[in-house]
Amino acid sequence: MHRLYSLAFGAVAAALTFTASSASAASLTRQPYLQRVGPDTATIAFRLDGNCVPAVRYGPQGSTNQSAQSADAGRNHAIVLSGLQPGTEYTYLVEACGARTNPVRFSTAPVPGTRSVHFTAVGDFGMNNADQRSVANAMLAREPELFLMLGDNAYESGTEAEFQNNLFVPMAPLLAQVPSVAVPGNHEYVTNRAQPYFDNLYLPTSSTGGEHYYSFDWGHVHFVGLDANCAMGMASQDRCSLASQRKWLEQDLAASDAPWKVVFLHYPPWSSGEHGSQPLIRREFTPLFEKYGVDLVLTGHDHHYERSQPMKGNAVGPSGERNPTYLVVGGGGAALRPFATSKPSWTVVRNDQDHGYLDVKVEEGTLSAQVLTPSGKLVDSFTLTKDLPPAPQEEPPVTADPGSPPTAEQPSPTPPVVTPTPGTVTGNPGLPGGPEDEEDVDGLGPNAPAGCSTGPAMALLPAGALVLAGALRRRRRR
Ligand SMILES: [Fe+2]
Repeated sequence: MHRLYSLAFGAVAAALTFTASSASAASLTRQPYLQRVGPDTATIAFRLDGNCVPAVRYGPQGSTNQSAQSADAGRNHAIVLSGLQPGTEYTYLVEACGARTNPVRFSTAPVPGTRSVHFTAVGDFGMNNADQRSVANAMLAREPELFLMLGDNAYESGTEAEFQNNLFVPMAPLLAQVPSVAVPGNHEYVTNRAQPYFDNLYLPTSSTGGEHYYSFDWGHVHFVGLDANCAMGMASQDRCSLASQRKWLEQDLAASDAPWKVVFLHYPPWSSGEHGSQPLIRREFTPLFEKYGVDLVLTGHDHHYERSQPMKGNAVGPSGERNPTYLVVGGGGAALRPFATSKPSWTVVRNDQDHGYLDVKVEEGTLSAQVLTPSGKLVDSFTLTKDLPPAPQEEPPVTADPGSPPTAEQPSPTPPVVTPTPGTVTGNPGLPGGPEDEEDVDGLGPNAPAGCSTGPAMALLPAGALVLAGALRRRRRR
């Protein structure tokens, strides 16, 4: 377990302000946030109100004796730290115009293949309200290695000002200390096809989709982020189309030999909330999830929590067969929406009364998930298990970009078994194959973006996928 985050929340918030000033001192108008963190690299992004060339001072074991300088004196900065050690705690601060922030800490991604991963995820939070803050602070207190943003990250329309005020301000302590990745929701696409989203976040990339969709390995988990808006035809087709994304997804999943696969996107293939299941997403993507052994699919859009049975096609999958579990984790801060219908038979657990987030630990062949409210109330918990082949003691040194072909063949893991842990509210387990399992697949509903079909084509940020480099070491446990 990390020794990160030993600072109390109040101290964390205070630490993110400049502590000295001079006649030329700048102010940090956006606190530092961690992007594109890999085993040997991290990008520290921030916004400065001043005319000087800032730098990040950093180092392991509490030191800040190394420095990386920005390329210019502009307003927005994203300073890349390289040559870092995997799975290592670093301290960093921003230095600009004679002033500096107090230091905070983060950890790099583990050695690829490390069989211990801890991440959190939630969507529909970009409100700048008390619920969002309490969810974010609760996630930070769990000390995750990685945070997945599931879309609708900056209400109401994903404007530049809304990203600043509804994402970066209320979630500053979390984003400064926990590496994050994101997928866009429909609200981001209200403004210029999500251009402010792409301008403000530094995400992994794919060869055909840029930052729209991408994958990366973190430990022994393969993560895939999809832009479901592309499938809906809301993106510029030369940047991101349903066909190109689907083709890339199949190649990416086929190439991965990671024992665990997690996909995250905004629109849910399975939901009994206000918007409901998204038929196009289910039809176009879930066959690939099933074919290539995706274990968990994380979504938002509907403002509630819901867990499905392992699903196959339009029904609950046969018992004992490997199929994906679908989660809606849309309680990140926006107003909750009550379920309008009785609980479907395919739903294991659902909750429309509590804001909360998903916390997942993957240790060897056991994935343990909890859904928690900010006060610590357990909304749901479950485990997926599978037998993994023995971990190799020595692995060949490689440099692998996200989505690159596997470097070593491993026997396929056995299908996962879903086991509710004690205390889980399991509800009706559902009956496979019955007519009630043919979900009422609504269209997009009132939350579908309007007015986002105009505006200039989005410009992709420079390529900079997570670099899963670094000498591979003997597998270790944390
Ligand atoms: Fe949404």
